[in-house]
Amino acid sequence: MKMLSGVVGLLATAPLAFGASLQRVSDFGSNPTRINMYIYVPDKVATNPAIIVAMHPCGGSGTSFFSQTRLPSYADSNGFILIYPDTPNMSRCWDVQNAATLTHNGGGDAAAIISMVNHTLAKYTADPARVYMMGSSSGAMMTNALAGSYPDVFEAGAAYSGIAFACASGQGQATPMAPNQTCAQGQIRRTPKEWGDFVRNAYPGYTGKRPRMQIYHGLADTLVRPACAMQALQQWSDVLGLPWSRNATGTPSAAYTQVVYGDGTKLEGFFGQGVGHTAPVNEQLMLKFFGILK
Ligand SMILES: *[C@@H]1O[C@H](CO)[C@@H](O)[C@H](O)[C@H]1NC(C)=O
Ligand SMILES: *[C@@H]1O[C@H](CO)[C@@H](O)[C@H](O)[C@H]1NC(C)=O
Ligand SMILES: *[C@@H]1O[C@H](CO)[C@@H](O)[C@H](O)[C@H]1NC(C)=O
Ligand SMILES: *[C@@H]1O[C@H](CO)[C@@H](O)[C@H](O)[C@H]1NC(C)=O
Repeated sequence: MKMLSGVVGLLATAPLAFGASLQRVSDFGSNPTRINMYIYVPDKVATNPAIIVAMHPCGGSGTSFFSQTRLPSYADSNGFILIYPDTPNMSRCWDVQNAATLTHNGGGDAAAIISMVNHTLAKYTADPARVYMMGSSSGAMMTNALAGSYPDVFEAGAAYSGIAFACASGQGQATPMAPNQTCAQGQIRRTPKEWGDFVRNAYPGYTGKRPRMQIYHGLADTLVRPACAMQALQQWSDVLGLPWSRNATGTPSAAYTQVVYGDGTKLEGFFGQGVGHTAPVNEQLMLKFFGILK
């Protein structure tokens, strides 16, 4: 009898032990480039949860990126929802060179990702004022792209080893194999105002809030040069109207220089000495910047 109740107890707790998992969503709305959507909804999802869109690097996937950061365990403890877009196209790189993606409501991978956000906002009554994004390498490039094309959708973004909005436009493909690497090699020269104009022209007439941005890059990155991150910072500095205020060292570790704009709550960069491609994801620093962690 005692043994039997033990077995019953085990069965009763079994569903909890297995818990939430990453799920494929096949019908999420308009999807002009036919990319894929995965979602992670934690067991203890918050009321009106925040959403974080997490974008994989070239050659990656939604499912692999799910296991490459500690964001899922932070979702478990904080109740936010994670969207993992997944592209099968262009060597599994995001189309950040595509004029459609670089235009508000223009189409491209960007529009498909906005469909995923819309679907999630509606289905889970998520908080439209707390939609965030992050990405690594090509995913970081897409983070900057979405910040420019859809400033109305995202509250903040974090880009690890990416490029400025529109840096790769005019390039055939934005992949490490493409013959044209002038953007990734940091060779595109523009003034901060010119970088900012690309963003303003992506959504003409828009006067609302712009996403707050956190930019991470390795100073030993030869695939996507650190100059690309400086260009992104100059771009957002111009768009957000925030002047460079100071540099600091020691956050998140002794190897890093923190480049602060304004009071640092809307724009900051982290450059790691000896850090290559890609800069490691710092979940804590990022979630604090987003306002999800105190
Ligand atoms: C992306 O890949 C999917 C699946 O192979 C394909 O149906 C779609 O046409 C591709 N989209 C683009 C823009 O190449
Ligand atoms: C997403 O939702 C917004 C607000 O309802 C709407 O304006 C926009 O057209 C939608 N975009 C897509 C791609 O579904
Ligand atoms: C190479 O790509 C850049 C954008 O990254 C573009 O401005 C330039 O015109 C391209 N060069 C050639 C030769 O296509
Ligand atoms: C701040 O840090 C950036 C990135 O390392 C560097 O380019 C810039 O020169 C620094 N500025 C000062 C005043 O130290």
